[in-house]
Amino acid sequence: MAKNALSFVCQNCGAAYNKWQGKCESCGEWNTLSEEDVSGATTVPANLRAKRKGRPFALESLTGSSPEAPRLSSGLTELDRVTGGGFVRGSVLLVGGDPGIGKSTLLTQATSLMARAGHRVVYISGEEAVAQVRLRAARLGLADAAVQLAAQTSVEDIIATLSEGTPPRLVVIDSIQTMWTDTVESAPGTVTQVRASAQALIRFAKKSGAALILVGHVTKDGQIAGPRVVEHMVDAVMSFEGEGSQQFRILRAVKNRFGPTDEIGVFEMTGLGLREVSNPSELFLSERDLGSPGTAVFAGLEGTRPVLVELQALVVPTTLGTPRRAVVGWESSRLSMVLAVLEAHCGVKLSGYDVYFNVAGGLRINEPAADMAAAAALVSSLANAPLPVDAVYFGEISLSGAVRPVAQTSARLKEAAKLGFGRAVLPETARGDAVGDSGIALNTVGTLTSLVADIAAKGRKATASAKSAPEGRFQRPDDEARRDARAG
Ligand code: TYD
Ligand code: MG
Repeated sequence: MAKNALSFVCQNCGAAYNKWQGKCESCGEWNTLSEEDVSGATTVPANLRAKRKGRPFALESLTGSSPEAPRLSSGLTELDRVTGGGFVRGSVLLVGGDPGIGKSTLLTQATSLMARAGHRVVYISGEEAVAQVRLRAARLGLADAAVQLAAQTSVEDIIATLSEGTPPRLVVIDSIQTMWTDTVESAPGTVTQVRASAQALIRFAKKSGAALILVGHVTKDGQIAGPRVVEHMVDAVMSFEGEGSQQFRILRAVKNRFGPTDEIGVFEMTGLGLREVSNPSELFLSERDLGSPGTAVFAGLEGTRPVLVELQALVVPTTLGTPRRAVVGWESSRLSMVLAVLEAHCGVKLSGYDVYFNVAGGLRINEPAADMAAAAALVSSLANAPLPVDAVYFGEISLSGAVRPVAQTSARLKEAAKLGFGRAVLPETARGDAVGDSGIALNTVGTLTSLVADIAAKGRKATASAKSAPEGRFQRPDDEARRDARAG
């Protein structure tokens, strides 16, 4: 028994092993196993085992009414949108994100607004002193809010304090990695401690009906236990993301038992805290480089909200044996697919070129609908042909080179019209769906080949006089485009 009590636990995923090994077979991470005493966490003491017989309980049917999950608005519309309409009482939310991204700032703002609305709100900081938290609140202009503060790390003390008086409506634990409980002997920050502390706090939340928010750091080196193990225990997981150099922050639901997982909340980090961005399209398009080749505006959809964003591509001759493919904000496998379709079906030779691809503003796109906008940006860069500044692009590209329809065409078009765009390049079959939308010229595309021919023809026209037409980059240009180029 005593010999088995010590175990090697992966600090990334929580898998346990009898002996040390370099690589965790469960999650594939290297050097993440460390020795921990897991006896308290995983085994029940013998004297507690099999003491009483099981008691039968009543089983219920799926029909029948349950009260709607009561929601608590955070006072921040963008945060409520991601949670699905506010915090659910008795639910547990894990907010993850890189250090310094603004998790504490976001939660200070949310707790202050909720306290002002008259709720009992408790903010436990395990990382910063009370003075630091106060200083931040003062900087945010929220020092007058009646948030109850403490700098504590002992889970038992925290639960004892919270159990006194009226039960709190919201408890923030910043961060779960700093918490420790007496019930296990491992050091704070280890998987066993994080799991046991989270378990105790979650039990308190379920019992008292308080909404609980756990903050979790995400580190890549595996030194501090990632919040991975906690993800399975909580009701919702949100990740707070952003590019270091950018001021934009995006809150995204990764898991949500009480709401959608495709909504995003957009914030801007300012000197006075996080500012909500209710119209993200304006923000992502605010620094557009008008009229330069290699950029295309994608009319995308994030959850229920249409979002317009600029896609940027740079295609340059390579000096390497294997050309570079660098992507920020999009899946690299998706880019490879679009490049392969361009090469196989449209005669666009890209094997001699490095390709750099970026989504402006630090947004990360998951939609296949971005294919056509990406292809347009790539061809525009290669052909040195700027795309029309008033056009938006969307449509999925299949491996055969056909452009396939995407969902919510009218929502995308409406957003584009609202922001002053005059035309949309979209899949052919989407037209029926979009009838009734006014103000935007629809330019439907059936295959990627026709889109490429269109853009390449403009590129030749533009550069023919400068004697630098990018001939040769296109292996078998359309006859029409060739005639066009000669004429120009
Ligand atoms: P913080 O919320 O402490 O990050 P986290 O809790 O995720 O580690 O935010 C830290 C960063 O935010 C820090 O670099 C300073 C910046 N910041 C502002 O730019 N404006 C502000 O009003 C505040 C409070 C922070
Ligand atoms: Mg913090």
